[in-house]
Amino acid sequence: MKKISIAIDGPSAAGKSTIAKIVAKKLDYVYIDTGAMYRCVGYYCLENNVDLHDENAVTQALDNIKIEMNSANQVFLNQEDVSAKIRHDRISMAASVVSAYQEVRNFLVLQQRQMASQGGVILDGRDIGTVVLPDAQLKIYQVASSKTRAKRRYLENLQRGLEADLDTIQKEIEQRDYQDMHRKISPLKKADDAIEIDTSDLSLEEVVDKVMELVIQKQKEG
Ligand code: DC
Repeated sequence: MKKISIAIDGPSAAGKSTIAKIVAKKLDYVYIDTGAMYRCVGYYCLENNVDLHDENAVTQALDNIKIEMNSANQVFLNQEDVSAKIRHDRISMAASVVSAYQEVRNFLVLQQRQMASQGGVILDGRDIGTVVLPDAQLKIYQVASSKTRAKRRYLENLQRGLEADLDTIQKEIEQRDYQDMHRKISPLKKADDAIEIDTSDLSLEEVVDKVMELVIQKQKEG
């Protein structure tokens, strides 16, 4: 079967990475978690006292940031395994702040395109179908109500042993949606040719089946 490139965009906690990982495994594709890369930049700034709101300082910090990811979905920042550390809610917010900066986006989009250049990839993020891979053969825009997303994140946090308060999580998700959708550069929006999937009332299996159907259809077309 022809290997295609798949873009999954959508707001925070819509289940993009869960679906992308399962679909990548089924297809033997490479999964690239682009949000993890923005999280690494946010994490680096917080750890090294770089003011998140000082765009010049964040831009300068990029010289000291090397991000690597492996096929086991581990994320390394300057050779340190930060896979778990970057999942904290304060890092989510930091990632959202630094992702609004042009130089941060240039730095990461370049790396994402290089990683995706061989095809047979599935990337999830906010700007994959619109900016990173505008020619991706399959573009999905995955959404869910903020209430559903907050509940999912709440349960995930509990499972990971992280602090969890449902109301705070929902408020933070809504704030992040606003920031990601209203920034000047590459705001989150549905690409014209993306297929929207609302996962609010769907099970994980139903979403995976829907995406797999679309993949098979696209592989046939190609
Ligand atoms: O997908 P995530 O929650 O791990 O992403 C963290 C933040 O990074 C998100 O709030 C916005 C930003 N991001 C982005 O701007 N572009 C991407 N392709 C991926 C993430």
